[in-house]
Amino acid sequence: MFKQIDKIAKYKAERNAVILAHNYQPDLIQDIADYVGDSFGLSQKAARLENEVIVFCGVNFMAESAKILSPDKIVLNPEINADCPMARMAGVEKLKELKARHPEAAVVTYVNSTAEVKAESDVCCTSSNAVKIVEALPQKKIIFLPDKNLADYVNKRTNKEIIYWEGFCPTHHSVTIEDIKTNKDIYPDTEILAHPECRAEVLAEADYIGSTAGILNYARESSAQSFIIGTEMGLLHRLKKENPAKDFHLLSSQLICRDMKKTSLEKVASALENLETKVEIDEKIRHKAEKALQAMLEMGD
Ligand code: 13P
Ligand code: SF4
Repeated sequence: MFKQIDKIAKYKAERNAVILAHNYQPDLIQDIADYVGDSFGLSQKAARLENEVIVFCGVNFMAESAKILSPDKIVLNPEINADCPMARMAGVEKLKELKARHPEAAVVTYVNSTAEVKAESDVCCTSSNAVKIVEALPQKKIIFLPDKNLADYVNKRTNKEIIYWEGFCPTHHSVTIEDIKTNKDIYPDTEILAHPECRAEVLAEADYIGSTAGILNYARESSAQSFIIGTEMGLLHRLKKENPAKDFHLLSSQLICRDMKKTSLEKVASALENLETKVEIDEKIRHKAEKALQAMLEMGD
């Protein structure tokens, strides 16, 4: 382990590289990263960095977003097999059909999507700014994709007409109302903090709903001592580290994103040493996708 950490430090300095990691990454990866955050914070960071090389530890669409925003930089994806199953649930052809059926609608695409789908969108959003973006758009009708649970969360907080897409996160969607009941029996009077990718009936029981960064902020500022966490288990690492006197319980043992766990120290070290795997995106697609991401950064900050 220490050998890999030394190797990472050596090549990081030699390459003028920075390591970004999502809040769901394995604990060891979070510990060696320069910046750990939610999807929105990571996109902001990727757009502003001075480093020549960005190593993105997360799932494919995250490294892809960094490359879209920083085309002149080398963006390395240490694990190209780390894919977001929800991002794969939205395809360009179906989106084009939907746009043709609703030409008056704006297309708001969750960042958990491919570059091709982003390129067909008016604006991107993350779980932390989805409501703000939908509200800020002049259109009354919104095609929202790919997450139907996030779409439903937004729908409940806006008067706009939301056209849903049949996508979901297999990890968050696996949490049921039974899990809520079981946890409430074991930990009565404990606050439930959940990610908006969870089902509507689960969110209805939550004391706080937000992105991974939102959950971290809420737990930090709350006077409560104990929390039930309705998001991927990787967030527990920061929650416990930043709040050593508080207790955190995972809402369901199913809250593991296998793709997020594919990154290892060895893979990060190898990515830096060999400058692999470089994220490459067709320039036409990248340029269109950049517009949708930049629109989000301008509207959703
Ligand atoms: P955040 O935007 O909250 O970081 O979530 C990303 C994600 O993939 C949730 O499953
Ligand atoms: Fe995708 Fe769900 Fe994993 Fe997030 S937790 S990366 S939405 S599969």
